[in-house]
Amino acid sequence: MCGIVGILGTKPVALDLVDALRRLEYRGYDSAGIATIEGGLLQRRRAEGKLRNLSDRLSTEPLAGLVGIGHTRWATHGKPTERNAHPHMTEKVSVVHNGIIENFRELKEELTRAGAVFASDTDTEVVAHLITHEMKKGADPIAATKAALARLKGAFALAIIFAGHDNLMIGAREGSPLAIGHGDGEMFLGSDAIALAPFTSQITYLDEGDWVVLTRGSLDIRDRQGRRVDRPMITSQASGFLVDKGNHRHFMLKEIHEQPEVISHTLTNYIDMSEGRVNFPDIGLELAKITRVTISACGTAYYAGLVAKYWIEKYARVPVEIDVASELRYREAPLPEGGLAVFVSQSGETADTLATLRYCKANGQRIASVVNVRTSTIARESHAVLPTLAGPEIGVASTKAFTCQLSTLACLALALARAKGQISDDKERELVRALTEVPRHISSLLRDERRYEELAHYLSKARDVLYLGRGISYPIALEGALKLKEISYIHAEGYAAGELKHGPIALIDENVPVVVVAPEDELFDKTVSNMQEVHARGGQIILVSNVEPDATGCSVVAHLRMPAVHPFVVPLIYAIPMQLMAYHTATFMGTDVDQPRNLAKSVTVE
Ligand code: G6P
Repeated sequence: MCGIVGILGTKPVALDLVDALRRLEYRGYDSAGIATIEGGLLQRRRAEGKLRNLSDRLSTEPLAGLVGIGHTRWATHGKPTERNAHPHMTEKVSVVHNGIIENFRELKEELTRAGAVFASDTDTEVVAHLITHEMKKGADPIAATKAALARLKGAFALAIIFAGHDNLMIGAREGSPLAIGHGDGEMFLGSDAIALAPFTSQITYLDEGDWVVLTRGSLDIRDRQGRRVDRPMITSQASGFLVDKGNHRHFMLKEIHEQPEVISHTLTNYIDMSEGRVNFPDIGLELAKITRVTISACGTAYYAGLVAKYWIEKYARVPVEIDVASELRYREAPLPEGGLAVFVSQSGETADTLATLRYCKANGQRIASVVNVRTSTIARESHAVLPTLAGPEIGVASTKAFTCQLSTLACLALALARAKGQISDDKERELVRALTEVPRHISSLLRDERRYEELAHYLSKARDVLYLGRGISYPIALEGALKLKEISYIHAEGYAAGELKHGPIALIDENVPVVVVAPEDELFDKTVSNMQEVHARGGQIILVSNVEPDATGCSVVAHLRMPAVHPFVVPLIYAIPMQLMAYHTATFMGTDVDQPRNLAKSVTVE
């Protein structure tokens, strides 16, 4: 992952580099660094940990220079120490990198034999040495970079500056996103348009294999074969204002509270409110002819896809194949001719999801993506984009993006069901009405968070927590467990309630809280049977249900009382207690909720 930025400016760039990195911290926050050219020489400042450590360092040890590059890191090769922080450099070249250089070991051995001395454990440092090696043989910076790029294998976005050249910066893209920003007598590079928004809205995205030579007044883009190419300049809508937390303590809490509004927004995009019917965009495929849908995604977005499988199979009667992208991409799965493949991604940049998209596209699938960032690579490579209108999501643990993904996928399921003649007009109106009531139900759930604060004391003492759900509540149990573990670091697992007796039941004793997601639906009685199995073994039940615990015959340690809702929208409503339980437990424990350890918001490595 990692975020990179580069500026060829007309005034000192150090503080602007840090400003741009702040907007890229969602991509990683293990360490940060910048390099500039001062008096012809490369200089850098780096710091372990969050960006504020780098800012502190710069206030005591400032950097001058009108050209510079910067990096915020999510560690892949080498510990997140200052020594491994980017930029990496020699006396001639400084480099920032997002991605993985897969053949770095061979290159490192070769360069070491040729006399290079490495100062870090990273894969990135080979890029600096490789270019330096070419320059020592007499190549100029451009020719040296070209020769070095030809030898790199893997996924990368690079920004490179050169000692003694303060009107030159080179960028390259192979598998990781890179945008050029056009300023007034200035040029920029960045992992995305959001990083560059304070400086310019005029953006050119590089294609895979492209590399670019920038000066303050020119740009020269080449493709993988070295041919000069033109890539369009677009006006980005990314806002120059950094999103702030408003009155909330964390971005995650703010984003949880935004859900009624952003779900409304998203639904309005796919529903004709006056008719009470779905109004789905043309995705370039006749929905009635679709015989199978393939869905793929990672993390929370995968669980949104899993909910969609239940919806599409139940309401549209179309079989759905779903797998996490990191598996589907290598499974050599056969795909139906002219089938629909759906990719779900908040960032639209997740490397595994993108690779799976390309596999499906190469195998003749029509590609529709459910993304929150419309300018993302996944959106740009899709035949049809189904945007979620969640707005920027900053908290690493996904909340509002998830429920907006569900909202979009629910409408897709209804559009398919109607096209297939599987639901009547009345049924469609009933289901649409249930969807339009979701924001109101969520608002009322968000009005009382006290019970989650109380529950947090109890959950914070647990070592393990199990989450159980059946049917469409199963993906919600999985999502609940993911939310808790990623931000509180308490071990948590979600299981299909029916699978309990095939293994997980061995874990249950009086110290293991078991969250049972049990809306009153056609599977309620079955879930209650599993709950009784937990109860009989001393498990401590947290019941999430509209049904009172008395009716289950089990005593519970807590009951998170839910409104009675249409079974269709259960996942949207029951996602909220999962988020609140995790959030309040984590804040009670004092973890870094918005930037949990080891994670990143956008994962652009496989
Ligand atoms: C990371 C994030 C998760 C997210 C997943 C997929 O792991 O921490 O919150 O669900 O990536 O990201 P995407 O941007 O593709 O939805």
